[in-house]
Amino acid sequence: MTGYSPYMHDTNSPFALFTTWLAEAEAAEPRVPDAMQLATADASGRPSLRTVLLKAHGPRGFVFYTNTRSRKGQEIAVRDRVVALLHWKSLERQVIIEGRATPVTEAEADAYFATRARGSQLGAWASDQGERRQEGVLEERVARVTAAHATGAVPRPPHWSGYRIVPDRIEFWQGRPSRLHDRLVFIAEGAGWTTHWLNP
Ligand SMILES: Cc1cc2nc3c(=O)[nH]c(=O)nc-3n(C[C@H](O)[C@H](O)[C@H](O)COP(=O)(O)O)c2cc1C
Repeated sequence: MTGYSPYMHDTNSPFALFTTWLAEAEAAEPRVPDAMQLATADASGRPSLRTVLLKAHGPRGFVFYTNTRSRKGQEIAVRDRVVALLHWKSLERQVIIEGRATPVTEAEADAYFATRARGSQLGAWASDQGERRQEGVLEERVARVTAAHATGAVPRPPHWSGYRIVPDRIEFWQGRPSRLHDRLVFIAEGAGWTTHWLNP
C-alpha cells in the first residue's frame, strides 16, 4: 500500500481520487493499468463481460473505444446500463464504476482514431469484431484495406467509435490487513455526490 489514507481524502467528488489512483497504478503496474472489465447485458438480462482500455476519464465520465457492431455495442444499444471494473493487483485496489454508456461525439471519435497506430486503424476496417472467423477472409480483407489506403490518413470506419460511461455509483476498494478493507462509495445525487463507507 502506498500511504493512501481514505479518511484524508476530499470526498466531494470521485474523480480526483480516481485520477490519483490511476496515476499510482500507472507507476506501479507493469502492463495495461488502464485495462478495465466492462459488463453489459442483453435484452433478457444475460450479462457479458470483456476487457477494454480506458482512454479518457474525468467528471464527464469514462471513455472506451470499440466496434459498435460488436456484442457489447449491440447490447449497449438495447440497454445502456453498464459496469466497469479496474483491478490493480500490486496496489490491492479495485474501482467499480456503474453508469450509463452514451456514444461519444463523432469529433471525439475522429480525434482519438487519428492517434491510433496505422495497423490498428486498418484493422478496424478489416475486422467485423465478433463475427465468426472464416479461414483466410480476415487476411484478405487486411490486404485489401491496406492497398486501398496505401497513402494518406486512414478515415475512421462508421462502425468504430467510443462510449462514455456516465457514472452514478463508483466504489473504491483498498485492501487492508486482516480483511479490514476500505470500501468508499460515491453515489451521484443531483449535480453532486454523496459518500458512505461499506463494511468489507
Ligand atoms: C488488455 C485488453 C485490452 C483490450 N482493449 C480493447 C478495447 O479497448 N476495445 C475493444 O473493442 N476491445 C478490446 N479488447 C478486446 C475485448 O476484450 C473483446 O475481445 C472485444 O472487444 C470483443 O468483445 P465483445 O464481442 O464482447 O463485444 C481488449 C482485450 C484485452 C485483453
